[in-house]
Amino acid sequence: MSAPTRRIGSLTVSALGLGAMPLSMGRGEPAPHDRAIATIHAALDAGITLLDTADIYAPSWDTMGHNEAFVAEGLASWDGDASQIAVATKGGITRSAEGGGRDGTLPYLRSALEKSLAALGTDSVDLYYWHRPDRSIRYAEGVEALATLQQEGLIREVGISNANVEEIDVAIEVLGEGGLAAVQNEFSPTFFHTSRRELRHCAEHGIAFVPWSPLGGTGGGASAVGERFPQIRRIAEAHGVSPQQVVLAWELSLDEHVIPIPGASRPESITDSAAAMSLQLSEGERAELDGIIA
Ligand SMILES: NC(=O)c1ccc[n+]([C@@H]2O[C@H](COP(=O)([O-])OP(=O)(O)OC[C@H]3O[C@@H](n4cnc5c(N)ncnc54)[C@H](OP(=O)(O)O)[C@@H]3O)[C@@H](O)[C@H]2O)c1
Repeated sequence: MSAPTRRIGSLTVSALGLGAMPLSMGRGEPAPHDRAIATIHAALDAGITLLDTADIYAPSWDTMGHNEAFVAEGLASWDGDASQIAVATKGGITRSAEGGGRDGTLPYLRSALEKSLAALGTDSVDLYYWHRPDRSIRYAEGVEALATLQQEGLIREVGISNANVEEIDVAIEVLGEGGLAAVQNEFSPTFFHTSRRELRHCAEHGIAFVPWSPLGGTGGGASAVGERFPQIRRIAEAHGVSPQQVVLAWELSLDEHVIPIPGASRPESITDSAAAMSLQLSEGERAELDGIIA
């Protein structure tokens, strides 16, 4: 099935991606193996061509790469053309028995990326995000590290995540206009206060804006979005679709550079979410939903 597409730098991807994190972590236990693979296959069968993972998406500190391994296996066992699928992963957050931290230095990012490439079974990743700022270094230093890894051919497109406008500007300065392909920040009807400016700023610079937890997150926000927002529930009922589809269709309607990555640990969730790519909201409905973040 083909889906509407959007751009992330030189990549052409479906307008919605699959957030693979809930297959490995989120609400308690990871998804059982067969259901995890079936969820990835359901996303690909529905026309989704962007899979979002990270090295730290794992049930425990000593199983990093767990989610990337699911992505690799899901792609290898899919009966479609996996060469058309873009994979995004992330590095820069550390996990250990003592807890977690940040490391945005070149030696750390290089070793994290090498492990990600091994887990994904590839020589180069389509899109690599610096996962979270490391406040112990200059922001430019982390971006310079990504630029080095890109020059070495290990990364096709560079992204940053959990970045504010000032950090986006630093990344543009280091990489040059057009060099930063994507910014992945939290954005949903539940959480938008620190991302509205960044969403607009990305549009002005031709950068893809990728909302994470676009439905409100695995902690109950996503499942309760229709109960929390009566206007979303009403619009969903009018179209005979789920409230989650309405949220995603609204996010897609914000601008052509917005590429939400709804998470799923069940095939049914991502099949339903993917249908948002063909849900048309009226101008009035969009205006009402815009009011949530006004
Ligand atoms: N860059 C970062 O710092 C960062 C941080 C967090 C997440 N992320 C990325 O963003 C992705 C998405 O965020 P998220 O997974 O935290 O939250 P989310 O997408 O807001 O919500 C995911 C939850 O929504 C449920 N769901 C999805 N589609 C549904 C539908 N159509 N109907 C009903 N329920 C539906 C899923 O249920 P089931 O589990 O039952 O399928 C899942 O538990 C992650 O997977 C990850 O790739 C990035």
